[in-house]
Order: sequence, then C-alpha cells, then structure tokens
Amino acid sequence: MRKWLLILNYARRKGIVLAWAFPLAAVSGGLALLQPWPMKVLVDNVLGASPLPPILVKTLQALSLHATRPILLKTIAILSLGLFAASRSVGALLTWISVRGCGGAVFGLGEDLFARLQRRSLAFHKKAAVGELMSQVLGDSRCAQQILEDILFNPIVALLTMIGMFVLMVKIDLKFTVIAFAVSPFTWVISALLSRRLRDSAKLNRDIEGQIQSQLQQTFAGIAVVQAFAQEEQQAGRFKRLVERHTQSQKINLLIGSLKTLGTGVVAALLSGLVLWLVARRVLDGSVSLGSALMFMAYFGILQAQLNALTNVFSVVDVASANVNRIAQVMDTPAEIVDRPNAIPLPGIRGEVEFRNVTAGYDNQRVLKGISFRVEAGQTVAIIGPTGSGKTTLVNLIQRIDDPWEGSVLVDGHNLRDAKIESLRMQIAVVLQEPVLFSCSIAENIGYGRPDATQAEIEVAAHVAHAHDFIMALPQGYRTVTGEWGATLSGGMRQRISIARAVLKDAPILILDEPSSNLDVVTEQLIVKSLLDYAKRRTTFVIAHRLSTIRQADLILVLKDGEIVECGKGGELLARGGYYAQMQDTQPDSASGSGLTT
Ligand SMILES: Nc1ncnc2c1ncn2[C@@H]1O[C@H](COP(=O)(O)OP(=O)(O)OP(=O)(O)O)[C@@H](O)[C@H]1O
Ligand SMILES: [Mg+2]
Repeated sequence: MRKWLLILNYARRKGIVLAWAFPLAAVSGGLALLQPWPMKVLVDNVLGASPLPPILVKTLQALSLHATRPILLKTIAILSLGLFAASRSVGALLTWISVRGCGGAVFGLGEDLFARLQRRSLAFHKKAAVGELMSQVLGDSRCAQQILEDILFNPIVALLTMIGMFVLMVKIDLKFTVIAFAVSPFTWVISALLSRRLRDSAKLNRDIEGQIQSQLQQTFAGIAVVQAFAQEEQQAGRFKRLVERHTQSQKINLLIGSLKTLGTGVVAALLSGLVLWLVARRVLDGSVSLGSALMFMAYFGILQAQLNALTNVFSVVDVASANVNRIAQVMDTPAEIVDRPNAIPLPGIRGEVEFRNVTAGYDNQRVLKGISFRVEAGQTVAIIGPTGSGKTTLVNLIQRIDDPWEGSVLVDGHNLRDAKIESLRMQIAVVLQEPVLFSCSIAENIGYGRPDATQAEIEVAAHVAHAHDFIMALPQGYRTVTGEWGATLSGGMRQRISIARAVLKDAPILILDEPSSNLDVVTEQLIVKSLLDYAKRRTTFVIAHRLSTIRQADLILVLKDGEIVECGKGGELLARGGYYAQMQDTQPDSASGSGLTT
C-alpha cells in the first residue's frame, strides 16, 4: 500500500487538480445521463400524446413560445445538440486536466528515478544493463498515469455514474433495474476467464520486445567486434528468430483479445435482448412508455461500459504492481556514497593527501589491504603495478567514488567521510582509463566540467594536451561534433580531449589513470612533458605502465595484490631490484629516449 501511495504522492506534488477533476467528472456523468432524455420527450410527448414535462412547458413559457410540434422539434434538436456539445467540452477539459496532472506525475516520477539512479555508485552502474535502467526511467514512470487514470479516477467516475443511473432507472421501473444490475456482471465472466491469459501473453510479448531491444543495443554498441569476427549472419539469424517469436506471441495475443471482445459482445447482446424483451412487454401492456423504455435501454448500454471500467481495475493493478515494485526498490535503495548529515564543504584545498591503513574492495572481494602513504601538496605520485592490482580502486577512493571499508583517506587533514562529496569532486580533475566523450562539440566536451570557460581557455587546455593541432585540422575545428562516444575520433584523439578537459578544470588535485595508454611513444612523451609541467603546482596521481611517465615522480608506489610492496623515489627503488627495477630492465629504451628524466 505504501508503495502505491508513494506514486499517488506525485500526483499531489505535481499539482494534479484532483479537486477540479472530480466535480467536473460529476458534471460530465450528469450530462451523459441527461443525453437520452430529449429522445424520450420526442417519442412520448412530441410524437406521442403524453403531456409535456412541466420543466419544458415552463421554459417555453419563459421564452414566450407556443408548444406547437415544429417548435417542439426545434427545441429538442437544440437541446440534444447543446447536451452533446456541453458533454464534449467537459470531456475535453477533463482530458486536459488528466494530461496536465498525470503527465506531470509521470514526468516528476521519471525525473526522480533518473536522479536516484544517477547517484548510485559506479560499481552499481558497472553491473546494471543500460537498457534495463532506461526502461525503468521511461517505462516504469508511465505507470503513474495508469494508476491515476485506470485505478483511481475512472472507477470512481464509473461508480458515481452508476449510482446516478440507478436512481434514474428505478424511477422508470424498480424490478427491471434490479434485473439489469443483476445480469450485467455476466459479461465479466468471459472477461475474467480470458484476462489472465491475455495478461500472460502481453507479458511474454513485452519480454520478447525487451530481448529484441537488448539484442539491437548490444549489436550496434559492439559493431566493431561483430564485423571483425564476421558475425553479421549469426546476429541477423538471432534477430530473425526473436522477431518470429514476437510475431507468434502477438498473434496469440490478438487472438485472445478478439475472443474476449467476441465473448463479452455476445453475452452483452444476449443480456440486452433479454432486458429489451422484458421492457417491451411492459410497453405493450401500457405500464411503461416507449420513450422511457428507450431511455432504459440507453442506460443499460452505459451500465455495461461503466462496469467494464470497474473490472479493468483488477487487470491494471496486476500489471502496474510489477512497475510499482521496481519503482519502490529504486526509491528505497539509498545511494551507496552519500554525504553524512553533518558533512562539511571542503574549503579551497592545497592538495595534501594521506591514506591511513586503508582497506577497500567490492562486494566480498577485498582489493586494497592496509594501504598507508602520505603526499605533500604539489607532489607527483606514480602508482604502478600489475593489472588488477588495485590502482584504479586506490585513486577512486580519493574522489570518494567508493569509501574505504576500514581506515581513512584525508585531504588537507580532512577525513573524506566527513566532507561534502560535491565540494571534494569540484577540486579534483580526472583523466579516466577509458576516455568518455559525449555527443556534442569538441569545445563542449573539453568544457564539460566548466561550462563557463572561454574559447581562449579551452584552447590553452587543448595546447597542454597537444590536441589543438588535430582539432584545428578537423573540418569544423572546435565546433566539430564528435558523435556518440566520440566515435568519429581515434583512441588517441579521444584521450587527448579528455586530458584537455581535466586540464581546463584547473583543480588542485589531478588524477591521471593511464593517460597515455592510447598514444604513440612520441606523442606520449610530448604530452607527459607538458602535463607534468602543468602539474607542478598540483598534487598529481598518475597511474602508468611506461617508465617515461613515472620516472620523475616524487613518490612511486608499487601495488601488488592490493598491497604496497615498494615505495620511494626512482633511484631508491632501482637499488632494491624489485618490480620497478624489472620495469627498467624491460623498457631500457625509454630511459634514454625520454626527455623527462630528472
Ligand atoms: N566495480 C567492480 N566490481 C567488482 N570488482 C571490481 C570492480 N572494479 C574492479 N574490480 C576488481 O578489483 C580488482 C582491482 O581492480 P582495479 O581496476 O583497481 O585494477 P587496476 O590495478 O586498475 O588494473 P588495470 O591496470 O588493469 O587497470 C580486480 O580484481 C577487479 O576485478
Ligand atoms: Mg585500472
């Protein structure tokens, strides 16, 4: 129940004018019930011989009109048209309210789901399927509309209309009203018999659609591998099989749907026939007028439609509860890394970083074990070690992408657990191991962390990253749009743009996670030189596999299986004959080739 209320709350928050919707719905229901009335007057009082209803007589008198047949015919035509126009106008107003209110609720819910999912940890996002998250934000939020319309609004309106109709029908004939209300639910039987099957087949249909979507997404995202391994035929075959399954399940779905429509239609026709027969007999023996009988039959038709709206509730609840559960799960799961209640914003930092006996990892896997070191502001730290030894995990702790299990990370003496995340991340610039570009211009990609940056500042950053020349050689220079994931650029170009982005941020702490892995040796040395010049006044962490990058660091940390096995300056480590010395042996050229040696 709480979960459903959570969603209803969006309707309230987003200003659905429920207070307006219900009286309007009452007016609309009343108008619908009045609609058969002109027909009754026409049959009984104009074409037949019964005396005119007093309200009509009074109205004609007020308008100084004589109740002649031509005038009565015109009056009834105007009345019918007026009722029709009024009921449609109220209907349009209700639709507008529903679009505003329900649409607002869907939008608000989608917004919150997006915000929540965005704040989940990187570890969560690495495991989650992108397609799944997209369907949560776009698909699940739509259930707010269903809940508001099909579970709350329509059934209440149906119930109110049925109460009004009951009163009007009883005025015509109590016994038949009871019969009509008693037999109507028989149409449910067919509906109920087939509803479950219809829901199951609709669910199967949606599942296959999801599979098709993820097949498409994976193929296009991995198109380079698909083509390189000549898997186009296999992918096409898989797609074809899925589409065939989809067509098959859609056929079944349509078949059950038409059986349901046919079944309920036949039962409804039989019931209408029965009620018509009973009422017609009353007309024959003169106890009910023909006009009243027609009005009664019109109400019987409306009754069936309203009952449908009521029964629909059960199937909508069934379908929507899956969405509601998933929404509640997203809303109830707190983000892994959040500000403490009394967290303080970090003031402008100098960039002194200290790890105190830090242990950290993922799920049950301990990755870093008892890491301790200290870096003064403005120093450069190189982190090296075999792949999978925990280098990226270590630098992630400095940005609070994760928190340590034990021990603490301090910046300028502030324990990061007590710092506001945003204030920390504003003061750290990062070049990721895998450069990520967005589908916008190169200038916007470089200015991502600083949207207020001027063109001149962007170009200075691009110079530091040795990106300016290749950018200027592109057809539209800095305005070139890079395509999704920067697909139109080479790996090295993407990396240099992401370096320029970090440089532009001008933060006191700079983290470079293998900033040169995609670059040729010459470009790498150029960039490393200008980057380290730029980094002189900043605390810099650089993860690297190439000696040329790490040799001039103030501190080199060698990580192995999550532990610091060597720590010190290049010369000291060389003397120890450990991992660093082995690197020196395997990369002898870079020692002489680099212009970076101190
Ligand atoms: N999000 C994650 N969830 C679970 N395990 C992870 C996650 N990220 C990394 N790991 C694991 O943590 C260990 C260390 O990973 P990390 O990325 O820190 O290594 P690395 O030293 O940066 O390696 P490389 O040089 O290849 O980049 C690995 O065993 C890896 O499988
Ligand atoms: Mg790494």
